[in-house]
Amino acid sequence: MFIFEKRTQIPVCIKNKNPHLAGIILSQYGGPDGELSASLRYLSQRFTMPDNKGKALLTDIGTEELAHLEIIGSIVGQLTDCEGAKSFDKYGNGDYYVDHGNAVYPANAAGVPFTAAYLQSKADPIADLVEDLAAEQKARATYDNILRLSDDPDVNEVIKFLREREIVHFQRFGDTTITKLNIFYKTLTPYTYKKRREFNHSVFLLIA
Ligand SMILES: [Fe+2]
Repeated sequence: MFIFEKRTQIPVCIKNKNPHLAGIILSQYGGPDGELSASLRYLSQRFTMPDNKGKALLTDIGTEELAHLEIIGSIVGQLTDCEGAKSFDKYGNGDYYVDHGNAVYPANAAGVPFTAAYLQSKADPIADLVEDLAAEQKARATYDNILRLSDDPDVNEVIKFLREREIVHFQRFGDTTITKLNIFYKTLTPYTYKKRREFNHSVFLLIA
């Protein structure tokens, strides 16, 4: 169950309009390494985690990613609030306007709509958690790129907060899994599929 709080995790207060910057930041709303991808990835993977600690980790971080989706939507919404067709066109974003107006639509920076192909849910805890570690670094790298492109201090303050949260998530996934992955690979010998499944299960019993 989710309980909605009528405030964002960090205040978003953007003074200047900029449809061009909004189009760039939109990638963290509906792009490959964005917050929608992250939340759906973790909140889907949690159902097949073999232990309660893994389930709780994915539920906790997946829920926070939904809060980050709200923050990104708020930034994009405020950057384009009340902006019309001419403004979008002036900022080189008229092609977005013709399909979506100044709505917040889940797409990447090039306008490609969101797809679930951006994420995987594999029922294999090792495979899922290693994907999650990579996903956090890709999200962090995307925020780095946004900071290189943006010179709006109101936007950058919030983006820096989100970037730091990706690092925290990476560390939390890492704390839970890296040691166990080392055990997994050290003991990796010729094995059958059944033995591998048993090993994965035993690895996660260690952290339960
Ligand atoms: Fe994250």
